[in-house]
Amino acid sequence: MKQICVVGVGYVGLVTAACFADLGNRVIALDVNEEKVKGLQKGIMPIFEPGLKEIVERNVNSKRLTFSTSYPEALKGTEFAFIGVGTPSGVDGEADLQYVEASARAIAENMSAPLIIINKSTVPVGTGDWVADIVQKHQPHSIPFWVVSCPEFLREGSAIADFMQPHRTVLGSMDRDAAEKVAQLHLPLRAPIVITDLRTAEMIKYASNAFLATKISFINEIATICEALGADVKEVAVGMGYDARIGKQFLDAGLGYGGSCFPKDVKALAYMAAEKGRHPQLLNAVMEINDDQRLKAINILKEMTGDLKGKTIGLLGLSFKPNTDDMRDAPAITIAQRLQAEGATVRAYDPVSMEVARPLMPGVEMKDDPYSMAEGCDALMIITEWNEFKQLDRPRLRQLMHKPVIFDGRNIYEPDDMAKIGFVYRGVGRGYAFSR
Ligand code: UDX
Repeated sequence: MKQICVVGVGYVGLVTAACFADLGNRVIALDVNEEKVKGLQKGIMPIFEPGLKEIVERNVNSKRLTFSTSYPEALKGTEFAFIGVGTPSGVDGEADLQYVEASARAIAENMSAPLIIINKSTVPVGTGDWVADIVQKHQPHSIPFWVVSCPEFLREGSAIADFMQPHRTVLGSMDRDAAEKVAQLHLPLRAPIVITDLRTAEMIKYASNAFLATKISFINEIATICEALGADVKEVAVGMGYDARIGKQFLDAGLGYGGSCFPKDVKALAYMAAEKGRHPQLLNAVMEINDDQRLKAINILKEMTGDLKGKTIGLLGLSFKPNTDDMRDAPAITIAQRLQAEGATVRAYDPVSMEVARPLMPGVEMKDDPYSMAEGCDALMIITEWNEFKQLDRPRLRQLMHKPVIFDGRNIYEPDDMAKIGFVYRGVGRGYAFSR
């Protein structure tokens, strides 16, 4: 049993702490936010993530997982301190590192024995060296320490499974022994471990996310071309995906990527390149296509309904993807603003994110269920592909709506089925069905 401190009880920090505790380690999760820590001590999760509450409760009950606001307490007797705090986007797309800096300083000021400091947050290439400088500067007296980068690859909604069954663990350090010790902690996960230098590990994270975002923008561009040429992007993606060099995943055309990672990380990578005088052409195109997907949705809706002024439009789904209440960079926000700017009244239903969404979407009326939401609507837009939307009673929806118009921003329905029920229906990139 190893003793581990995890700084930050946000998404990354809390999942890391709970999972390491579940692997049999003793973990103290630290946060400077007293309210969050008190909540966790009472079993209240600061975020919605399937399975997280159960794993936290199990490990709190077995006393392997505790929460604290005190650095001296959390660092006492530990050899490993993970930093898992937020790195939001600054005004120009650069990562805002104030929380990483504050954590590094506090660790330096409070460590009492040799320590391996492991950075989990997504940070600009070179941050590991910068953290080492901060720790060195702020130690009251010199105690040995090593900085290791161990980027997280967790997806919201499947974070526990992603932690427990990772595709790989990436470790970067200027000290091989320190990286090997962190590797030991990850051995029970039975995944390949890549050990490299600090900057390369940091870059692997950005390059991975930027590649996945590129895949999404690529298929969205293909969707636009499919629409123009009368082909069906869903089947194009299936046909492409069987080629192992391409792969099936991340080829769903739709409203584009949102959330806390892809938008921020692609922007930050482009910013880092530009800062060094490089021209990140591909990354710029990826971002441009992604922004366009949201605007295109409004244009398609207008083609379907005519002028939006005075119309009532219902949004099915608000969160940036299913199985989360996260509204960060969710397409729903931009789409609702656009609809309102065009003079439409906007209503919405989402299984879990309405409370989080309410303050971000002023003037949008939240409804308790999809059917009361659809009543009297001139059109519905499917924004998030929640499973429960796949099983809706669509004939009933059609009856309730003022006009039977559906724009399906996530391609969850089949155009032929929708036509049979009597809907005027369009998905994204489904040109074949549309042109028939
Ligand atoms: C992502 C990465 O997957 C994860 O490895 C990293 O650590 C954090 O960022 P996450 O943001 O939770 O995880 O969501 P993900 O499931 O990857 O989806 C990101 C966005 O892409 C969502 O908005 C989703 O709707 C969109 N997406 C995904 C598509 O539009 N099409 C696809 O085919 C896949």
